[in-house]
Amino acid sequence: HDVPIKEKNIMFIGFMGVGKTTIGNLVAKKLYRDFIDIDQEIERKHKMPVTEIFKQIGEKAFRQMEKEVITELCQKKLKVISVGGGAFLQEEVREICLSSCIVFYLDLSWGSWKDRISLIVDSRPVLQGKSLEDMEKLFHERKAIYSTHHSKINTDKQEAEEIADYIVDSLK
Ligand code: S3P
Repeated sequence: HDVPIKEKNIMFIGFMGVGKTTIGNLVAKKLYRDFIDIDQEIERKHKMPVTEIFKQIGEKAFRQMEKEVITELCQKKLKVISVGGGAFLQEEVREICLSSCIVFYLDLSWGSWKDRISLIVDSRPVLQGKSLEDMEKLFHERKAIYSTHHSKINTDKQEAEEIADYIVDSLK
């Protein structure tokens, strides 16, 4: 009872601020599919911004909410889904996603990511109070998790639109 490959959800993973939501949205439009951003779904369901969830009830509770929302939405078909940069830290989440979605890892070099820090940091509770060295360490630790079994797309040199076209072509 596996979902046929053409009906599978398409999922984007990768570090905070690499463009999962932007590219996910574009890919969804090009394929005439609905786009789902898991963080936005968590915010809607719990009526609280992600930053407030972290502040008021903590990361552990957030990870539980994240797992629940992903589990629910991965049961759908023909969607394009972007998940937060920490979702794949949970083994159960990885398994659910990999069985129900075609997963693309959006990769970026540390150098390019560093140039975007000011745009990213304020809205990301995981980065609050971290030094540049701490962030670099986290960036590389996470890379090891994302890299394992997915199609990796480097986003350093191309515009979101070109990357989305490339992804859509690769599905043909
Ligand atoms: C997180 C990434 C965020 C959001 C939360 C935690 C993480 O999503 O889920 O702040 O642990 O990497 P984005 O990757 O969309 O920024």
